[in-house]
Amino acid sequence: MSYPNIVAIDGPAASGKTTIANQLAKKWGHFFFDTGVMYRAVTWLALHNHISTKDEEAVSRLAHEVKIDVLPPSQEDGREYDVLANGIDVTWLIREQRVDKKVSRVSAYPEVRKALTVQQRRIGLRGNVIMVGRDIGTVVLPEADLKIYLDASVEERARRRYKQRIDRGEEANFEKIHKILKKRDRIDSTREVAPLCAADDAVIINTDNLEVSEVLSEIERIARANPED
Ligand code: DC
Repeated sequence: MSYPNIVAIDGPAASGKTTIANQLAKKWGHFFFDTGVMYRAVTWLALHNHISTKDEEAVSRLAHEVKIDVLPPSQEDGREYDVLANGIDVTWLIREQRVDKKVSRVSAYPEVRKALTVQQRRIGLRGNVIMVGRDIGTVVLPEADLKIYLDASVEERARRRYKQRIDRGEEANFEKIHKILKKRDRIDSTREVAPLCAADDAVIINTDNLEVSEVLSEIERIARANPED
């Protein structure tokens, strides 16, 4: 079977986008690109440089100046790729809870989005790619050949995020994770620029009661039903 060339996978935080896209990309021989890491890298850099994430102008400047690289993994510590921000390996640092707390605010700034969207679009248009985010099907790559919107209840997503942290040997508090996710949902879906929503031509999959393998099968079924011209 020939696979869709440009694939957009959107959805709320912790809806399983990364896991699904990663496995699909391996199977289809596509390049997996998680755009969330770019917003996270800008957020981490602001915190690292003691720039308040409320300072829209300074954070926007940072987004325009930062050099973010996503490269094949340099270490075998569970990572799928390296994320470098101005040459610093931030692969795990961008997953810290302090970044989770601030990243939605940072990603709501129009200039931050402008700076990062241009880079994402350039990567996406090379094709052979599965790109993951909130606005890939609607804004970054509206011409994508296949658009999937993965959804799940906030309780289920909090459970998954909690398990992820525990499995990585980190401390985790379910209530806290649940609260941060709810707040991020609200900010991500109500912001003025490129809010989280499914594109009109996206296929929506609710993953609440589905195993990863079942979601993968469903996406492959959809891809087969919509072959490329
Ligand atoms: O997918 P994630 O949790 O790593 O994303 C981190 C944040 O980045 C999320 O709260 C919203 C933002 N984001 C976005 O606004 N647009 C994207 N294309 C990807 C992520």
